[in-house]
Amino acid sequence: MAGRNASDNLKIGLIGAGMIAGAHSAAYKNIPGVRLAAVWDADASRAQKIAAQHGAKVCASREELLGNVDVADICLPTPFHLENIRAAAAAGLPVICEKPLGRTLADCDAAIEACTKAKVPLLVGHVVRFFPEYSALRDIIQGGQIGEPAVIHLRRVVCSPGPAGAWYWNFEASGGCVFDTAIHDLDWVLWTLGRPASVYGLGHRDPANTRDYALLTLQWSSGIIAHLQSSWSHDGFATSFEAAGSEGLVEYDMEDAVPLKVAKIGAGAGGGGKVVPESPLAKSPYQAEIEHFIRVIREEEKARITPGEAREAVELALACLEAVADRKVVKLGKSKGSRPKATEKKKVKLGAEHPE
Ligand SMILES: NC(=O)c1ccc[n+]([C@@H]2O[C@H](COP(=O)([O-])OP(=O)(O)OC[C@H]3O[C@@H](n4cnc5c(N)ncnc54)[C@H](O)[C@@H]3O)[C@@H](O)[C@H]2O)c1
Repeated sequence: MAGRNASDNLKIGLIGAGMIAGAHSAAYKNIPGVRLAAVWDADASRAQKIAAQHGAKVCASREELLGNVDVADICLPTPFHLENIRAAAAAGLPVICEKPLGRTLADCDAAIEACTKAKVPLLVGHVVRFFPEYSALRDIIQGGQIGEPAVIHLRRVVCSPGPAGAWYWNFEASGGCVFDTAIHDLDWVLWTLGRPASVYGLGHRDPANTRDYALLTLQWSSGIIAHLQSSWSHDGFATSFEAAGSEGLVEYDMEDAVPLKVAKIGAGAGGGGKVVPESPLAKSPYQAEIEHFIRVIREEEKARITPGEAREAVELALACLEAVADRKVVKLGKSKGSRPKATEKKKVKLGAEHPE
């Protein structure tokens, strides 16, 4: 979007008005020169709810929305990303799209092709890159502060994302906790260590009882091992990590870092109350992510997440799903994407692209 600057009013069109659309729309409210202008959702009442909070127009169709905005922001269930990316790109609009980019690699390739052909940015919401603790962990590892990294543990456990029958519990649509949730940490390891050589996993899935859980082990040709815990079986939401290297260890637990905890009596599945983490101090990572995307669209910054990287996260998540399904080690081939090697300009030996 050449020539656009911060003083131009940028009209955002929200496609999908569910859970994550709430975080996106809240972020737009805080960005000068940006306005949530239109909302479309197959469920008009959902579109109405978000539109009312922002003085936005409720559109009767995707086409109506695309004709009235400058940027398309896609917050739909994953299988619908591709057709909406294609429509937005064909309308010449920059595209913001939630992660995962697509449910299949074919979808990712088609989405990237559509945006490349239309010469519009495709910005995928791998928000963990905007969590200060995760970018700090990356800096610590890449800066050599714990020496040669050896073993990394990443934990991301959340409650059921919906009742039985919700799209999340349709495995073909969401890919379960490994594809939909662990993909945050998979993107982080790719960003930090580069592409692993192989993955292995075990899991348990019970959609009728809204339970999904997996343990994943990733290995790099350099010897680094990452262990990921992913769950839709817990109460609330928790993340933590630990990284051990030749000269030290770094650890983080969200529960230790949350400055404000609101416990609502009776809201938790265990009857003990649900803890809702909030921070009165820090900028929401969703806010930071959306602000970055707007700066990219205004050509003030280079994208922190390339479409090729979003594709590679999908590729790795699919390999993890295969490993869990077949209880076998899945080897990864060479990257098709254009992600720069994580080892460049770093003094420590990270994962590196493994040899054939
Ligand atoms: N970055 C993150 O932290 C994060 C968190 C949650 C969800 N997500 C991702 O965001 C996407 C949306 O998830 P969500 O939790 O907001 O889902 P959701 O179920 O809360 O909302 C989806 C919305 O899309 C609408 N919809 C469904 N199919 C449609 C269609 N074909 N056309 C038009 N509208 C349709 C539904 O009515 C609903 O309002 C998913 O890809 C998910 O993986 C990302």
